[in-house]
Amino acid sequence: MALVSAKEMLEQARKGKYAVGAFNTNNLEWTKAILKGAQESNSPVMIQTSMGAAKYMGGYQVCYDLVKDLIDSMGITVPVALHLDHGEYEDALECIKVGYTSVMFDGSHLPFEENLEKAKEVVSFAHANGVSVECEVGSIGGEEDGIIGAGELADPKECKLMSDTGIDFLAAGIGNIHGSYPENWTGLSFDTLKEIADITEGKPLVLHGGSGIPLDQVQKAISLGVSKINVNTECQEVFAAATRKYIEEGKDLEGKGFDPRKLLAPGTEAVTNLVKERIEWFGSNGKA
Ligand code: 13P
Repeated sequence: MALVSAKEMLEQARKGKYAVGAFNTNNLEWTKAILKGAQESNSPVMIQTSMGAAKYMGGYQVCYDLVKDLIDSMGITVPVALHLDHGEYEDALECIKVGYTSVMFDGSHLPFEENLEKAKEVVSFAHANGVSVECEVGSIGGEEDGIIGAGELADPKECKLMSDTGIDFLAAGIGNIHGSYPENWTGLSFDTLKEIADITEGKPLVLHGGSGIPLDQVQKAISLGVSKINVNTECQEVFAAATRKYIEEGKDLEGKGFDPRKLLAPGTEAVTNLVKERIEWFGSNGKA
């Protein structure tokens, strides 16, 4: 199946009260692992690259070709959207030209008016090319220079103005943060989420920082309008743990256990298993 825009996928999720997982990829193994997990769960899926991961992989064209060609060679039949995660304005435009089917323009660090103006420009170029757009209001907390910020709460009035630019889905802080959650984290703010969902009138909402949020909070967030959940750190953690176990058990020293195809297999399998587990949490299994 050809890559698809995320617009319909997330609108269906919003109506059906489930969420689509957006998993960050870093390389060939992760891309295969995510596609396999989605296919085996018969679930729509979003594969996303951060700007840094895309650079690491050799650029946006490489990422696009990799995902598109793996969909063909692996016989993937579930809907897959290739999405840019936290993109600068120029990167969003480049991804649209290259063939990404969805982009996030993250202008949350800009003055709000400028964030809005640039969002409108991205929407106009993206929609002319059948590409869906995510934008962010406020900023999602997380670890920066070793300091873990508390999750920010977005201003619902700003959410409404951003939603009205014509974006397809909205990321807004509701106390969520990227990376691991600190011991003293107070949880998601469902009052804020409800206010944002009411004022944006059915626009699919995005929950960043999906790693480490307990199942009951994830499901409550979905019931209130979250339709896309980003997961990155947890995939990294299970990949590293499985690889560590393989090496600590000395398996790389047995026979040809050092062959990367063997060395990276347990980590890759762990990512597939996590993707399948999260897809079940989010309720998108069987929704392809
Ligand atoms: P985590 O790394 O906390 O899962 O967050 C991922 C994310 O939100 C990417 O934009």
